[in-house]
Amino acid sequence: MKIELKDKKVFFENKGSKKEIHPFWLRERVNGDDFVDKRTQQRLFDPTGLKENIEIDHLNLSKDFLEITFKDGAYTKLAIENILKEFSNINEIKFIDKIKWDSTLEDFNNFEFKDNIFEEQEMYKALINFYKYGFVIFKKVPTRNNFIVNFANSIGSIRRTNFGEFFDVKSKPNPNDLAYTSLPLAPHTDNPYRKPVPCIQMLHCIENEVSGGYSTLVDGYTVTQELKKKFPDYYKILTEIKVRFQFIDQSVVLEDWAEMIQLDENGEFKQVRFSPRLDFVPLIDRDKLELYYSARKKISELYNSDKYRLEFKLSPGDLLMMDNHRLLHGRTTYDANEGNRFLQGCYIDYDSTEGKLKHLKRKFNL
Ligand code: OGA
Ligand code: ZN
Repeated sequence: MKIELKDKKVFFENKGSKKEIHPFWLRERVNGDDFVDKRTQQRLFDPTGLKENIEIDHLNLSKDFLEITFKDGAYTKLAIENILKEFSNINEIKFIDKIKWDSTLEDFNNFEFKDNIFEEQEMYKALINFYKYGFVIFKKVPTRNNFIVNFANSIGSIRRTNFGEFFDVKSKPNPNDLAYTSLPLAPHTDNPYRKPVPCIQMLHCIENEVSGGYSTLVDGYTVTQELKKKFPDYYKILTEIKVRFQFIDQSVVLEDWAEMIQLDENGEFKQVRFSPRLDFVPLIDRDKLELYYSARKKISELYNSDKYRLEFKLSPGDLLMMDNHRLLHGRTTYDANEGNRFLQGCYIDYDSTEGKLKHLKRKFNL
């Protein structure tokens, strides 16, 4: 990839193909102090007010910089490296390859909490692992004063839901969700009925005195890829049929229609939703339903199988942060008479982790 000049025009050469860069594109990127605010990197001019037929008056190309003077008098010196970066409109996060895992995974992605961890390289490593595996566990996170709120807001901003800014997961009288009982919770994703579904869930263990109440995690990415390979018809139907997910309590009715396996515009894995307590397939042809029910049964078998499920016990201070679009989570049953089991939970969105990751990358020149 390189930049070339000819007749007051700038060209971008890539793998033998040479294309002109629109002069307006370059004019928009004029970056001197009169044009861009240094601190925010926001434009001080409105490019929609510029003449469309902007022309270049003078060009100078050196090894690292392109200098341009435009006919309207604007001058700029652009770093070649920055121009080249913009040619691949790449989301860096997508380039962190997911690592598929199953119950044989041994590295639990543990990181020890420290007061200033949010600004340290350690947090960068933790977030990279989060994107690779879909979860990380922070150990020794303070359990006082709803610290989870602090923790979440130090990565990004809490995403409030109908369960509040954060929620207490313990066995309660008259619960509005089965999570607030001592019943087992089979692997599920949270809030599939919300638009959009919260991206990342945090569960922070405050007390865990019971002998049961193990936490479970399943990699939805591994399981759906397996389903695709072994049962392509099942995979196909689960990527096609939009199911209604529903949550109802005294104050709200929440519904959304979505595929159990949602693909992106390239047909690649995007998100799983799974909560067979809350899903309602539409009334479609009998044959299709027949296939759909077999497919749901199979994926449920896989999600619940020992082959894919991690089972571990959270100790007080452990904070599990997991990708709610990729992983399923759950817990085994427990006996509330044995003692207290108390977790606190909340959600954040991907822009929080992405924003933090990019900030730390910039800060440590990584
Ligand atoms: C939840 C949940 C798991 C647990 O609250 O969404 O799945 O360990 N809890 O209690
Ligand atoms: Zn849950």
